[in-house]
Amino acid sequence: MKRTFMFALLLGGFVAFQSCGGGETKTDKPAETAVVKTEAAPSDADEPFAAGKKIYMEKCVVCHQANGEGVPGAFPPLKNSDYLLADKVRAIAQTLNGSNEVMIVNGQSYNAPMPPQVDTKEDAVAVINYVLNSFGNDGGTVTLEDAAHIDIHPR
Ligand code: HEC
Repeated sequence: MKRTFMFALLLGGFVAFQSCGGGETKTDKPAETAVVKTEAAPSDADEPFAAGKKIYMEKCVVCHQANGEGVPGAFPPLKNSDYLLADKVRAIAQTLNGSNEVMIVNGQSYNAPMPPQVDTKEDAVAVINYVLNSFGNDGGTVTLEDAAHIDIHPR
């Protein structure tokens, strides 16, 4: 039931993305293109953390859930996570290299391993910035410079 819903959500996002892209391919008639663009519905691409949201929906949502609350005892929350907000650069590293340690998040212990999630620092920074500013979080932002010292472990 939940999975079907998530799939519908993903598919919906994809269709919205496609239809937006279609409006931009008309380049031969500039006047018409302008009309098409103003009539197009606002898409995810207009959101400030759109790239990170796309990664989240593709990779993180299965465990950390669409509302960022995770699954108590199994997958820790990213919503209002004291652990996350205590070290945002650590979160970039965990997204790149995974995590396999006992951690206490909002008073609850977690120790299942998280596999590496993304291959580039750009993607890791984008998705962490989405997380830091979603689910009611007001966690600021991280930059590629923050990630400069992180070693990406061989896969
Ligand atoms: C297969 C399930 C799974 C997926 C997919 C997953 N995670 Fe995790 N995540 C975990 C688990 C389990 C932990 C706890 C790891 C530990 O104890 O070392 C965790 C921990 C974390 C933490 C630190 C703890 C916290 O709650 O603040 C962050 C940040 C995080 N994940 C971000 C992400 C992001 C971003 C993605 C997607 C790019 C992602 N995770 C995808 C399972 C997952």
